[in-house]
Amino acid sequence: MGNGGWWWWWWGLMIIGAVVAVASSGSQRKEDLRVSRIAFGSCSDQSDPQPIWDAIIKYDPQVFIWLGDNIYGDNKRPFKLFGKERTIGPWKNAPRFVPNSRQEMELRFKKAKTNPGYSRLREKTKIIGTWDDHDYGLNDAGKEFSAKISNQELLLDFLEEPQDSPRRKQAGVYASYTFGPLGRQIKVILLDTRYHRDPLSSDGTILGNLQWTWLEKELNGPASAITIIGSSIQVISNLSATTGPLISSESWGRFPKERDRLFKLIADSKRDQVFFISGDVHFGEIARYDCATGYPLYDITSSGLTKSIEEAVPPPFHFIVRFVASLTPTTMRVMNQNCRFSSCTYGQPNFGAIEIDWDATPVTLKLEVKDINGLTVTGVKMSLLELQAGSINNVVTMKTGEYWRHCSPEVTLPWLVRYRLAIVFYSAVAILLLALIVFTYAAVLISRRCLGKCKFD
Ligand SMILES: *[C@@H]1O[C@H](CO)[C@@H](O)[C@H](O)[C@H]1NC(C)=O
Repeated sequence: MGNGGWWWWWWGLMIIGAVVAVASSGSQRKEDLRVSRIAFGSCSDQSDPQPIWDAIIKYDPQVFIWLGDNIYGDNKRPFKLFGKERTIGPWKNAPRFVPNSRQEMELRFKKAKTNPGYSRLREKTKIIGTWDDHDYGLNDAGKEFSAKISNQELLLDFLEEPQDSPRRKQAGVYASYTFGPLGRQIKVILLDTRYHRDPLSSDGTILGNLQWTWLEKELNGPASAITIIGSSIQVISNLSATTGPLISSESWGRFPKERDRLFKLIADSKRDQVFFISGDVHFGEIARYDCATGYPLYDITSSGLTKSIEEAVPPPFHFIVRFVASLTPTTMRVMNQNCRFSSCTYGQPNFGAIEIDWDATPVTLKLEVKDINGLTVTGVKMSLLELQAGSINNVVTMKTGEYWRHCSPEVTLPWLVRYRLAIVFYSAVAILLLALIVFTYAAVLISRRCLGKCKFD
């Protein structure tokens, strides 16, 4: 073998080395394509400080999902019971919330987008999202709200949707995404619960016909290892059933027919490993419904990134909010020892975290709500096998009057339990009123006696 032979050997080794390197970097890249951490959140006031982005960046999600109230675009007027413009009470004559001009909406979206923390997240994380009422443009608004066409454009600009995207031409911002390599795909379906929604308490539609047809196609489309359905409003918890008539919040529960249709669609699609994520309510919780698909349907609610129910009162009174939270009965909430508070709700700023361990056998899934330091405040961990039809057998007939946790709706609770929050509240008000009357009466008596005495003196 002469020198030329060595030369060829040398080249041969180089080429084999290069091929191996490229192939392994290819498989390396494929590994990287696996999505194993997704964060989500809602209810972020662009004018509030937003320290939570640091915790989200530290969690290092590959995808971040906005679930609505990504900005507060409308204006809230103060509570006014008396005077010319009354925003609450039975004699209310002025709306509590008013929409803003397009220019003002644009400014607010810009402020949210250029927040330094969020800007850092955007640099390395895929951002997707939908909207809720306040970024749609008006509190609790539905299909009747006329600025929706203009605001859809603004939301999609905020999310950096390409100019030629079909999402810019459709009525509403619903969309679906698939991440990850074959066999380990995560499908994310984002619903629009605003654009086509009938008035509250109409028991009409939330999604509208077009979106229903689209959703049916999405659910019956190619299989995925995990399917996440993002809804701005809660799907499983029906809070207003137990906080009414004091407080009523929006949820799929307020549209029972529409909610049943959603469950049936998922069941009929035979799609396993489906769960919901939601926002809107200014606290975090995990709820679970066992009687729809043959496996537990989870709904992880994270709300909000800046807005939270505890902020409504000064810090020394936060314990009252927690006490009230522990009074709200729930048939769906997931309760466990690891929750930060005994109610297993969390009324301080939080974000949602979805973590998949693809290397575990079987594959495991962690669904959590995390606080401003990235610590878990409520969470569940399961194997993907537990989210397959047949993993529970609760779909069998339930006798009327029977109570099953994670199955019986809140409205079937005995009324003393169902309305205990209202009962405690009105009792407290009654006691206060009574005390006030007694006190006033006593004061009048004393002062009269004194006046009489004073006259004679
Ligand atoms: C949710 O609560 C509301 C208010 O009480 C009630 O009208 C509705 O039927 C409930 N929905 C479900 C699914 O139980």
